Amino acid sequence: MTTRPLIAGNWKMNLDRAAGTALARELAGAVASASAFEMVVCPPAPYLLAVADELAGSPVALGGQDCHTAASGAHTGDVSAPMLSDLGCTYVIVGHSERRADHGETDTIVRAKAEAARAAGLVPIVCVGETEAQRDAGTTLDIVGRQVVDSVPDGLDGATLVVAYEPVWAIGTGRTPTVDDVAAVHAHIRGVLAAKTPDAAAVRILYGGSVKPSNAVELLAVANVDGALVGGASLKTADFLAIARSV
Ligand code: PGA
Repeated sequence: MTTRPLIAGNWKMNLDRAAGTALARELAGAVASASAFEMVVCPPAPYLLAVADELAGSPVALGGQDCHTAASGAHTGDVSAPMLSDLGCTYVIVGHSERRADHGETDTIVRAKAEAARAAGLVPIVCVGETEAQRDAGTTLDIVGRQVVDSVPDGLDGATLVVAYEPVWAIGTGRTPTVDDVAAVHAHIRGVLAAKTPDAAAVRILYGGSVKPSNAVELLAVANVDGALVGGASLKTADFLAIARSV
């Protein structure tokens, strides 16, 4: 089992095939197997196969941005976890705040997606995080703790589960919590995970939300921060590599 920090790139609904494959090719050419970090990129579903071709033979892993709770069936427009696995994915993001907001995904749905991911052999990256109003109200730890309790399946371990803490108000805004705030939330998540798995210490807990080269060293050095989930800055080869090399 790897305990290396995980640097995950969430491309969201960005780039086209030419730009996505070029980015993947550059990353594949730059990342060595012996790196101090593990890297995964999560392209839009239509480009997974083209990106997989670019990553073949490199240590850069491939991930989906979402999966359905079911393995197959009458779900127009959706993508299942076995399909992602079939294309070469080893990870899938579930419960990103944009999915929770845009598609009404509840903790129960997110948990079912994480379970579907595991059933297909994928490692779910389960996202949690408070809104700005919740932070202002002083309920961050309660909210995030509840999301972990309700969204994360029981019994997974460091090899089969990743959790990402992404404050909703920090995503795409250029704003980040203080390192003390990040430390407090990550320690809380670690504690909550202990009730779910005897392997909580080995579960990687990523920080996400406006991670960039200029703040990556500081954020990745925080206790219980085991990597980063990166949106905007993962779209530029130099920036994403600089973040990864900050571990
Ligand atoms: P950001 O997005 O790095 O652009 O803030 C992070 C995410 O939403 O995963």
